[in-house]
Amino acid sequence: MSGSDPVRLMSGSPADLNAVMTVMTDSFDPGFGEAWTRAQCAGILPMSGVWLILAQAGDRLAGFALGRIVLAEAELLLLAVRRDFQGRGIGKSLLDQFIGDASSRGAHHLHLEVRDGNHALKLYSAAGFKHVGTRKNYYCGSDGALFHALTLSKVLKN
Ligand SMILES: CC(C)(COP(=O)(O)OP(=O)(O)OC[C@H]1O[C@@H](n2cnc3c(N)ncnc32)[C@H](O)[C@@H]1OP(=O)(O)O)[C@@H](O)C(=O)NCCC(=O)NCCS
Repeated sequence: MSGSDPVRLMSGSPADLNAVMTVMTDSFDPGFGEAWTRAQCAGILPMSGVWLILAQAGDRLAGFALGRIVLAEAELLLLAVRRDFQGRGIGKSLLDQFIGDASSRGAHHLHLEVRDGNHALKLYSAAGFKHVGTRKNYYCGSDGALFHALTLSKVLKN
């Protein structure tokens, strides 16, 4: 399978951990310290209120989104697309699916954290997320460099 294969979105489960980690390693630049470890993912996937959306291209996982809902607050924990599938609208489709799922699950507000300077900011702004706060020096890159995290929110229902 190659980066030009058609992609379909589906629900994932803790059994998809290996595939998720393959995308994690491929997509995130270790210089920014945004990727989660295998232990972090293994710990959160079975938790109540957590859901995984897969973008599947044949037998390869092209990307995924990880969400969590607590009462009426949903959070986009991770969004990642393999490098050879980027720039084809998959990230936007995963984000749209996350927003739709969160709404169906009863979310009134959506939140996420993203590194200041990450190009995903454009994607989130276009989807209606607004900058509501900053966590200084939140991410620590592989060479020790620190980067601020921006907290973004979107209101679905007041
Ligand atoms: C962020 C990410 C998920 C986007 O996935 P993608 O499938 O390439 O995104 P799309 O093709 O749907 O692009 C959607 C929009 O994102 C923005 N975007 C995506 N890649 C971009 C790039 N390299 N430079 C600038 N903007 C970019 C654009 O606004 C784009 O819309 P446009 O094509 O109409 O201009 C992907 O680049 C990725 O996995 N990055 C590493 C992990 C990460 O940083 N995740 C986000 C924080 S959790």
